[in-house]
Amino acid sequence: MGLWSLKFLVQDNSKYLYLDSFEDIDGYLSISLFKYENNKKNLTKSHFFINFDNTNLVNFWIIEIILDTKSSIKVIKNKLNSLEKDLRIKTKNYKEKLVFDTLNITEIKPRNWLKENRKSFPPIFVNNFYIYGSHVVKNCLANKIPIKIDASVAFGTGSHETTKCCLNALTFLFKFFKPNKILDYGCGTGILGIAAKKKFKRSKLFLVDIDKNALGLTKINLKINGVKSNFIYLSDKYFLQKIKKPNYYDLVFANILFNPLYCFAPSFGAIVKRNNYLIISGFLKEEIPFIIGRYNKFGFKVKKIFLLNEWGALLLKKI
Ligand SMILES: C[S@@+](CC[C@H](N)C(=O)[O-])C[C@H]1O[C@@H](n2cnc3c(N)ncnc32)[C@H](O)[C@@H]1O
Repeated sequence: MGLWSLKFLVQDNSKYLYLDSFEDIDGYLSISLFKYENNKKNLTKSHFFINFDNTNLVNFWIIEIILDTKSSIKVIKNKLNSLEKDLRIKTKNYKEKLVFDTLNITEIKPRNWLKENRKSFPPIFVNNFYIYGSHVVKNCLANKIPIKIDASVAFGTGSHETTKCCLNALTFLFKFFKPNKILDYGCGTGILGIAAKKKFKRSKLFLVDIDKNALGLTKINLKINGVKSNFIYLSDKYFLQKIKKPNYYDLVFANILFNPLYCFAPSFGAIVKRNNYLIISGFLKEEIPFIIGRYNKFGFKVKKIFLLNEWGALLLKKI
């Protein structure tokens, strides 16, 4: 689908009249108002005005209309003509004249925003991990664990505080614990499961999400990170029964929101083995006491709290 941008200048006292005049035109998508600045490269005075002597451009505004129908450009031109006539009659001021022979029309080329977003996603270090997109060619430092994740529609590029808190909790756990069966519940891009599996290569990894697209991306990310031997499951909003194996997992991650975490406490209580660990995140600092109270009732004790800005994560041990 092609898009067209039409820009023109208006005087300060007539800007609202122009702003309200185009909505019913076929193919109209949006209208925006910007203060005119002389230093804008692509919006010079000559783009808009011919022989406009003694005009003080300080009080001018740029109006931009976006259309998805090329044929409506003509309709806009006619509308501008008639608005200009009306204004001239009303104000009797010829300086109101808008010379739209030089109306600035450009086609907006379709852009792959996701691809561009990926390019602007810089590598990040979170404790022991180096998280980078596939556009980054630089090698990772020898003492870091690399995770290749592209910016995508799924949550989990490592830049959010809740993910960082979970990775910090995992780095802390490395020092004294080695899990065999790992569950990443609400895996998003799969980042937490991949991080754990990169460290504990021989472990079995289970990944669950409610979002089909996220699971599609998880599969890709597992592949590009060379992570094998996994089980990937689609869930609904209830706790997935298929993975509900009593006293089965050594390490469970759940970076979901406060509400599902609160509801799933009995289920996590049932599936995490005694003396093993649960890392939960996705809640605000002030919600931590409620989460701790709830998880205490299902056999968990706090091993460590991880905080970043207003977010928190808990490393819980099943007693
Ligand atoms: C905050 S993101 C976390 C993604 C990734 N684990 C991370 O730490 O960056 C939460 C993920 O949980 C999923 N989710 C939310 N509610 C869920 C539920 N009830 N069961 C399974 N997955 C759920 C969402 O689709 C989303 O991908």
